Amino acid sequence: MNLSFSQPPRLEWTTGDLSGGPLLRKSTCIQDLTGIFSDERARQLLAGERIVYEVEMLNTSPAEGELYTGITHLYPGRVGHEYFMTRGHFHAHREQGEVYFGLRGAGLLLLQNEQGEVRLEKVFTGSVHVIAGYTAHRLINTGDEVLSALAVWPTLAGHDYHALAKGFNVRVFEENQQPLARTVQNG
Ligand code: PA5
Ligand code: NI
Repeated sequence: MNLSFSQPPRLEWTTGDLSGGPLLRKSTCIQDLTGIFSDERARQLLAGERIVYEVEMLNTSPAEGELYTGITHLYPGRVGHEYFMTRGHFHAHREQGEVYFGLRGAGLLLLQNEQGEVRLEKVFTGSVHVIAGYTAHRLINTGDEVLSALAVWPTLAGHDYHALAKGFNVRVFEENQQPLARTVQNG
């Protein structure tokens, strides 16, 4: 029997460019991020249409038991002194985990559990981040280049952006050209 060889999608590891498959794309701009950064006035002074991050996903089956694959490209920049970052979320199905892989750039992965305890992992080319269930996650770009990361997560997971709408318990600011993590009170 002759079986033909199918062509899977391709990821360019050095840039995070996905090709060869049906893709979904979403851009998140400054104007979409009301209340996310600590200095809301500084956010309002930036151009609303400036893109903070883009997510490119393989358009695969959403059926239970399947996995999603997506790339986040988080641009360098700051709102006031606070580095550009993703909105961040818990999974709607809290027990579901996720894996992130650093592709390019330099940053941090902010992890916060349901008890409010925070960890920060360095993100760099080749870094592997196993995000356990019950753990909210947010990418932060502390570098001067685009931070690109690959993520794989269960279709079942879903996103809960509401639970941390008041913010994570740690924010990362640039001080003296260095990233500095500060604990904040979110009530
Ligand atoms: O599944 C993930 O955790 C990522 O693909 C994120 O959704 C992506 O980084 C964008 O972040 P957020 O969903 O918090 O806006
Ligand atoms: Ni997630």
